[in-house]
Amino acid sequence: MQTQSNLEVYLDMDPGVDDAVALAVAAVRFHLRGVTTVAGNVTLDRTTANAGRLLRRMGLYDAVPLRAGSAAPLFHPLITAPSVHGESGLDGFPEGFDPPDPPPSETAWRFWEGRWRQASSPLRVVATGPLTNLARAGMGGLLPAEAVAQLVWMGGSLSGGNITPYAEFNAYVDPVAADWVVTASGWPMRIVGLDVTRKARFGAAAISRLKRLGPVGEALAQVLQAYCRRLGRPWAVLHDVVAVAALDAPWLFRWQRRAVTVVHDGRERGAVLAVPGVVGRPVWWAVDLDLPNFYTWFWAGMEQWRGSGDARA
Ligand code: RIB
Ligand code: CA
Repeated sequence: MQTQSNLEVYLDMDPGVDDAVALAVAAVRFHLRGVTTVAGNVTLDRTTANAGRLLRRMGLYDAVPLRAGSAAPLFHPLITAPSVHGESGLDGFPEGFDPPDPPPSETAWRFWEGRWRQASSPLRVVATGPLTNLARAGMGGLLPAEAVAQLVWMGGSLSGGNITPYAEFNAYVDPVAADWVVTASGWPMRIVGLDVTRKARFGAAAISRLKRLGPVGEALAQVLQAYCRRLGRPWAVLHDVVAVAALDAPWLFRWQRRAVTVVHDGRERGAVLAVPGVVGRPVWWAVDLDLPNFYTWFWAGMEQWRGSGDARA
C-alpha cells in the first residue's frame, strides 16, 4: 500500500463506525506504526476486535501492531454508545474477519513507551476516542512531554455537545483524562471538536462511491448503510476522519490557539471551557474547515483502496 506521506503515525481509537473510516484513510496517508484501542463507543474487547477485523480486511493485520488499552475511564464508570455504532461497534461489517488471536498482552501505554525509547524521534498520535490511554501513559511518566511530537484529538466542542447539550462524547466518557492531557501533558496538540467535525457528512453518493473501492470500501459501505438504517437518517457524520485530515492536511482548517480545560463532573461534565488569558497550556483549536477540499483530500486517499485490501475471510 502506497503512503502519501512519510509521517510515522500511531492511532488510538474506539472503533466505532467513524473510527473505522478514519483507520482506512490513515492507512493510505501515513506509515501506520501502531493501532491502540480504548473503551468508548463499545467495550474494549469489541473495539479491539473491530480494529483487528479492519486491519485484516485491509491486509495489514501482520504489518501493523495492535495493542489494547483501557477498559474503563480513569475515575468514571464506562459509558458506551451501541445505539449509534451497533452492539458490535461495527454492525454490518462482513463476517469471517475476526482476529485469530487476541493481541499481545502489552498495554497501549507500555507499547508507546517502548516505541519512544527505541525511536530516534518523538511519536505522532491521532486519537479518536476517550483519552484514557494517553492520560495513563503521561501520568505514569511513560510518555514525558518530549516523547510526543504531535497529538491530534477528535474531541470536545466549543459550540455545544452531542451526548449532552454541553459535552462531546469522547470528552464526556473520560473528562479527567481529557483535562489532564489538554492542560498538563505538555504535548503539542491540535484539537478538532464538533465545531468542525459535525460538517463531515457522508450520504448515499459517498456510500455508493465507497462500494467501488475494493474490499475495504465495500466493507465500510456496508457499515455505513447499517449506521444510516440504525439512526434513520440518510447520512453519517464521520467525525474521526477529520482528525486524520488535521494531521495530514492542516491547511484545510483555520486554527486558533486556545487555553482550555475540561469539566470533570456535574451537569457540565465533559464540557470544554476556553480559559481566558494563558491559564493552562494553549493548544491549537480548529475553528473552521474547508469542506470541499476536505472531501477532495478524503477521496484522493480512499482511491488507493481500489484494487487493494483482502476480501478473503
Ligand atoms: O463525538 C464523536 C466521537 O465520539 C467520535 O470519535 C465517535 O467515534 C465517538 O467516539
Ligand atoms: Ca471514535
